[in-house]
Amino acid sequence: MGLKDKLTELKENALKEINTAEDLKKINSIRVNLLGKKGPITEVLRGMRDLPKEERPNVGSFANKVRDELTSAIAERKERIEIIKISKRLEEEKIDVTLPGVPVKAGQPHIIMQVIDQIEKLFLGMGYQVVDGPEVEEDHYNFEMMNLPKDHPARDMQDTFYITDKLLMRTQTSPVQARTMEKHDFSKGPLKMISPGKVYRRDTDDATHSHQFHQIEGLVIDKNITMADLKGTLQLIARTVFGEEREIRLRPSYFPFTEPSVEVDVSCFKCNGQGCSVCKNTGWIEVLGAGMVHPNVLKMSGIDADIYGGFAFGLGPDRFAMLKYGVDDIREFYLNDVRFLKQFSQRG
Ligand code: DAH
Repeated sequence: MGLKDKLTELKENALKEINTAEDLKKINSIRVNLLGKKGPITEVLRGMRDLPKEERPNVGSFANKVRDELTSAIAERKERIEIIKISKRLEEEKIDVTLPGVPVKAGQPHIIMQVIDQIEKLFLGMGYQVVDGPEVEEDHYNFEMMNLPKDHPARDMQDTFYITDKLLMRTQTSPVQARTMEKHDFSKGPLKMISPGKVYRRDTDDATHSHQFHQIEGLVIDKNITMADLKGTLQLIARTVFGEEREIRLRPSYFPFTEPSVEVDVSCFKCNGQGCSVCKNTGWIEVLGAGMVHPNVLKMSGIDADIYGGFAFGLGPDRFAMLKYGVDDIREFYLNDVRFLKQFSQRG
């Protein structure tokens, strides 16, 4: 067989091998074997020594052509393998958008916060400001400015965590009344505020007591404020939280910082006033305390009680939530058991 035939046969075989190579490793080893110094093409070229001189250029250029063809066949195959590799990977990494997703666990506001938010929204809509006060409070604001001087018997109504003689954990949100009144500039308009927050009492925790719970304080001071304004406001709270059909009733009571003072009952939302276990067969449920701000409280905060007057109220979001959702143990709110809390998801 002549050298040209040898080269042609070699080319055919090599092309077959190149075009069936499956990976880069294989194609590289083919390249090294075929075109390297010890490869078959070099071998054939070496055989040219035995050819007559005039045939050498012809065979030589044929051999170069064969080498070029094989070199480009190898390059093409390499490219092809790369493409196959990429499309295989794309195929493998394809996302099946029809697969069900992994559920995302999202949190939600605590049930007490939901009640507070609802009442905040109601009052913000009526132009009240929402005010914060310190939980570590001065005796001065918590008691004295609320018309509860030292040794006043009504101090016993609230067992107090004292930090020092003068500092305590606030037992009520009422001190925010005094703090706000002191700063208020009546030339800019009436004072209308609510103040939600945590309060503390030295109680032993049980189903209806917690050493820490929540209150929302409300206060309006202006000229010509009457008890009718108070009653309308309280009715709005009752209807917003417990339903449109609710009625309220006021019973005389005592708080040192209001005169007159009232205890507020709401008609039972469970039995509509017929009598049931929730309202203890009375048709009414006690929900909050309120009254007309005591002149002493106004005076101590630097307000002229002959010109200005107003009403105040204090309610317990914990109690509201217990009543509304039939929770019979206040401690549930503070244990933070997710199984309990997620019952009040707003996402349905
Ligand atoms: N501070 C009272 C308490 O903790 C609740 C209260 C009652 C607040 C009547 C008021 C009010 O502003 O007018 O028991």
